[in-house]
Amino acid sequence: MSRAYNFSPGPAMLPEPVLRQAQATMLEFGDCGASILEISHRGPEFIKVAQQAEADLRTLLSIPDDYAVIFTAGGATTVQALLPLNFAAPGQPCDYVVSGHWGKTALKQAAHCVDARTAASSEAGGFRDVPARADWQLSPDAAYVHVTANETIHGVEWRGIPEAGNAPLIADFSSSIASEPLDIAKFGAIYAGAQKNLGPVGISVLIVRRDLLERSGQPRAPIFDYAAQARAESMLNTPPSWNWYVLGLTVKWMLDEGGVAEFARRSARKAALLYAAIDGSGGYYRNEVAPGARSRMNVPFFLHDPALDKLFLDAAKQAGLVALKGHRVLGGMRASLYNAMPEAGVQALVDFMREFQQAHG
Ligand SMILES: Cc1ncc(COP(=O)(O)O)c(C=O)c1O
Repeated sequence: MSRAYNFSPGPAMLPEPVLRQAQATMLEFGDCGASILEISHRGPEFIKVAQQAEADLRTLLSIPDDYAVIFTAGGATTVQALLPLNFAAPGQPCDYVVSGHWGKTALKQAAHCVDARTAASSEAGGFRDVPARADWQLSPDAAYVHVTANETIHGVEWRGIPEAGNAPLIADFSSSIASEPLDIAKFGAIYAGAQKNLGPVGISVLIVRRDLLERSGQPRAPIFDYAAQARAESMLNTPPSWNWYVLGLTVKWMLDEGGVAEFARRSARKAALLYAAIDGSGGYYRNEVAPGARSRMNVPFFLHDPALDKLFLDAAKQAGLVALKGHRVLGGMRASLYNAMPEAGVQALVDFMREFQQAHG
């Protein structure tokens, strides 16, 4: 077997020990006589898995006790659609600070049921920076202010998300959760689709201050009610149990590796290595994001001549470096450097980039 260094933006590379453990328990889980895929979510074996995953996530992210953790089927986009239903009263505006594609998506998901407002946007500049706090136009009666901590496509990351004022701040951390210490108490809620730093696709995590769950929100089906989900410990209906299990393995792996402080150090080193290679290439490669907003997780970059893109991707694949093609919105390349990407993978990428430049300069 030869596993490549996988720079996919998500579903993304998972730690090999997690995959091996999942593989080992696929046929028979503990003494169940069945795979974890085949047992009831309400049985004692799975309840233990679910509770351990939550306890480990609480430890990993230092989640305060007055925050509920909800595991939800579906992606971050599903959470984006449910935020206004749960947290905004009919007619109440919701403010969105937009720093890239996913901030726009969040606004679009909300706009059909509430007055979703663009409080600030860096779109006019091509999403190459975050909107300065001084430019945010907040509504005095906003239900919440939504930000995207890290824009996965545009490679734009907040370095210290500003305070939002009176309204609770809700942040999409899909592509940067668990990559550095975070003071959750600054937020009303944070959420993330799991398929980048937390595990497999198909499950998302919402960490929400319990008082927000008391809001009545909009009329909605019971299954879309986060307060009811929290009361039912995320088991109103059958949860994505396999995904929850692998998420738990991934969280445990991060704890064993040293936790978020260690991943912050690794992420800083990996990002610095790649940005230095790009900036030191004399314009052969370029990243267009403002230096203070460059993402540590997703690094979009362009070759000086787009005609070389296909050759670059083919040669990278030959060298064991896969999924470097940029998102269609931007083109070019993108390297995603989530927690499971070892530093050796980034070193292999920058070595390859230097050799490619020498061969095709
Ligand atoms: C920051 C961010 N938010 C939201 C999403 C949407 O996630 P999903 O496809 O799980 O709905 C993504 C997906 O890549 C993302 O990167």
